[in-house]
Amino acid sequence: MRLKNKIALVTGASQGIGESIAKIFAAEGAFVIIADVKDSKGIKVANDIGQNARYAHLDVSDELKWKKIASEIKKEFGRLDVLVNNAGIIGLGEDWSPQNPEACSLDDWHRIHAVNLDGVFLGCKYAIPLMKDNGGSIINMSSRSGLVGVPNACGYASTKAAIKNHSKSVALYCCEKGYGIRCNCLCPAAIMTPIWDEMLGTDIGRAEAINAIESTIPMGKMGLPEDVAYAALYLASDESKYLTGSEIDIDGGVLAGTASSPKPKR
Ligand SMILES: NC(=O)c1ccc[n+]([C@@H]2O[C@H](COP(=O)([O-])OP(=O)(O)OC[C@H]3O[C@@H](n4cnc5c(N)ncnc54)[C@H](O)[C@@H]3O)[C@@H](O)[C@H]2O)c1
Repeated sequence: MRLKNKIALVTGASQGIGESIAKIFAAEGAFVIIADVKDSKGIKVANDIGQNARYAHLDVSDELKWKKIASEIKKEFGRLDVLVNNAGIIGLGEDWSPQNPEACSLDDWHRIHAVNLDGVFLGCKYAIPLMKDNGGSIINMSSRSGLVGVPNACGYASTKAAIKNHSKSVALYCCEKGYGIRCNCLCPAAIMTPIWDEMLGTDIGRAEAINAIESTIPMGKMGLPEDVAYAALYLASDESKYLTGSEIDIDGGVLAGTASSPKPKR
């Protein structure tokens, strides 16, 4: 019951990492609002959880929808204790231009920033007033890609880098104001969720593609959604009450070094 009586909103919670966070938060005593654009999947997640959850349709890039959900939360609960700005897209697939710095269309650059970055900005903006009287925890989903360049997903990488920086501004602003709101980032890498389907495919080449990725991970395997969800649980709980403006890497050791690190000849 590490989140007993806390009210939490998790965006992008219809599947993948967000779904796992929602389930673990509810199991630890929180009431969880599962917010996503994939309605039928989100409703199923809420039903699986039971009375400690409800689903809300929320396109995180739409400011009017944030205003609406914030006023509903104010009316229903009077406050918000935890916000996980988890919703994100990678921008690969048939209806996207190639995501390299030379070919990425300006529209697609804006499209990915609207969801991944504006979504986080808006989430923080509308959560602060709901949290400032009682304190709270904002958890923003960045990525390993926010620290290193990603030549074929440059828009995605740009959003994830900006999320890290904005989280620090939010953290310091809330300290200055004495709001008791903490804001931290999670930086996962190589977590097996549907976001990988565009990169791994679904046919026989998939196992080979997974092997190729896992060969670059020091721990030798991709992570699971719950690996990220347990870090989110820590940041959501009062156990992390002295953490703000910080980042937690959940990446099987990927960012601990580089493949080109020097080795003795024998
Ligand atoms: N899986 C990984 O390896 C990995 C690594 C680093 C960071 N991340 C980040 O973790 C977060 C979750 O990713 P995932 O792997 O679970 O992906 P996923 O694709 O399985 O889930 C993302 C969810 O976000 C929702 N979403 C997309 N656009 C939305 C919008 N406009 N409004 C509301 N919801 C929207 C989707 O419907 C989906 O349910 C993302 O921010 C992603 O960038 C994932």
